[in-house]
Amino acid sequence: MNFKHVRLRVSDHDDRDRILAVHLDAFGGDEGPVIVNLLEEVLDDPTAKPMHSFVAELNDEIVGHVLFTSVTIEPVSQTDGQATAQILAPLAVPSELHGKGIGTHLVKESLLQLAASGVQLVFVLGYPNYYSRFGFVPAGARGLQAPYPIPEKNADAWMVLELEADAAKSVDGTVKCCSALDHQKYWVE
Ligand SMILES: CC(C)(COP(=O)(O)OP(=O)(O)OC[C@H]1O[C@@H](n2cnc3c(N)ncnc32)[C@H](O)[C@@H]1OP(=O)(O)O)[C@@H](O)C(=O)NCCC(=O)NCCS
Repeated sequence: MNFKHVRLRVSDHDDRDRILAVHLDAFGGDEGPVIVNLLEEVLDDPTAKPMHSFVAELNDEIVGHVLFTSVTIEPVSQTDGQATAQILAPLAVPSELHGKGIGTHLVKESLLQLAASGVQLVFVLGYPNYYSRFGFVPAGARGLQAPYPIPEKNADAWMVLELEADAAKSVDGTVKCCSALDHQKYWVE
């Protein structure tokens, strides 16, 4: 795909229905409606702010969406530092366009924008093989625990990316996410 024609921009309120449609299609089946409900709750959740919502556009069509919302890190001890952090969730590209590099382009470009806006750490619960390409590494091993315990078999899926060098170095603790995401059901698989 020629990415000269794919435009990344911050989403606005008028994009909302088209963004929800992208997620419904991308996740499909039973999962699509669940993700759409979750996304609506997150978008309306004041505790998710500041949030960053980006769309990829091609020929005036939305061909990808990614949302980052605010998280804090509850320190283990008083000597633990803090960092400005966000969590990536959800990410979607319409199913007919999967595998063309749009997701990779969207995530890479949006991470650059987050870094420029001062975000130091980004967390994700997702496919390790996919997110490792952006530099995400397992977070548990770095002393950064998920809001709910991740089953051992999926431990690698809980990941962190340092947008600022060594931002995680002096930070240990448990991530606290926005109210809409703060339900165990979203963290078990
Ligand atoms: C995941 C998703 C956003 C990727 O977007 P995309 O534009 O299709 O991805 P790209 O073309 O940039 O990258 C394709 C790569 O992603 C990998 N990939 C896609 N889905 C994957 C998955 N479920 N697990 C692991 N890797 C996956 C492909 O194997 C491919 O790898 P390669 O580059 O080594 O060949 C898209 O497939 C999607 O919307 N899926 C449904 C929703 C979803 O699962 N969202 C992510 C939740 S964490």
